[in-house]
Amino acid sequence: MINSNGRVVMISGANRGIGLAIARNLYQAGFSLSLASRKISTLESIIKDWSSEKILITKFDAMDKSTHSDWVKKTIDKFGKIDCLINNAGIVESVSVNDEEDNEEALDRMWAVNVKAPLSLTRLTLPFLRKSGAGRVINVASLAGKAVYGSSVGYSMTKFAAVALSHATRHGGWDDGVRCTALCPGYVATDMTSTVESISTDSMISPDDLAELVRTVISLSNTASVAELLVNCRPDIVA
Ligand SMILES: NC(=O)c1ccc[n+]([C@@H]2O[C@H](COP(=O)([O-])OP(=O)(O)OC[C@H]3O[C@@H](n4cnc5c(N)ncnc54)[C@H](OP(=O)(O)O)[C@@H]3O)[C@@H](O)[C@H]2O)c1
Repeated sequence: MINSNGRVVMISGANRGIGLAIARNLYQAGFSLSLASRKISTLESIIKDWSSEKILITKFDAMDKSTHSDWVKKTIDKFGKIDCLINNAGIVESVSVNDEEDNEEALDRMWAVNVKAPLSLTRLTLPFLRKSGAGRVINVASLAGKAVYGSSVGYSMTKFAAVALSHATRHGGWDDGVRCTALCPGYVATDMTSTVESISTDSMISPDDLAELVRTVISLSNTASVAELLVNCRPDIVA
């Protein structure tokens, strides 16, 4: 296991849901955190009691590429290193093969947030992750990136791509100690699933349980690579 002390972790979409749960867990475990959000003031008020020495808050909007490089630069300026990148920010919009109208804009938005921004951040951070010698990348994909149900296609396409990105990252960084995991949860109790009716919130995965898994995975030695982590609240592997 790797000691959390002095390890620097970047988390996108850290202001709510899974991202905030991961931030809380890793802060309590002693990591230094570079937290990114579209709404800095909200995040600042949520974590106002956390030690400023160990925390950096930066604006990151997946749609605005200048914020990608700016976030990485500010992280290096404050901490001088990056050990882990957690690509968590994501969106879901309805795009089905049965749609009569072409909703390409919704599809483009999902590609930009769920795939292109994680790729961009991976490229920007890889030189620092390589230097770490034990760099870690977690891409919060989904079980929708492992199997397709019904005719909903847009979100699944982007999450399959996020899984592909994870495998390419693991191969690309392997020789320098970079390990990458595609975290693939089923329904998680966050704002994203607040309108889901097929399953109750109480029966969904807790963001805190996912956060605990993330802490464990990024703390494993280089010789214990977890390529994919499938987490479900139902009996099936991916359904
Ligand atoms: N909830 C589930 O059932 C579930 C299951 C499998 C996978 N996931 C994945 O888990 C990740 C986190 O989702 P969640 O459940 O925590 O959802 P959430 O509560 O809706 O949070 C989504 C996060 O992504 C951020 N975000 C959205 N668009 C962004 C953009 N353009 N630039 C930067 N940040 C942006 C949001 O920021 P704002 O607050 O500014 O909107 C928010 O912090 C996503 O990748 C999602 O696809 C979720």
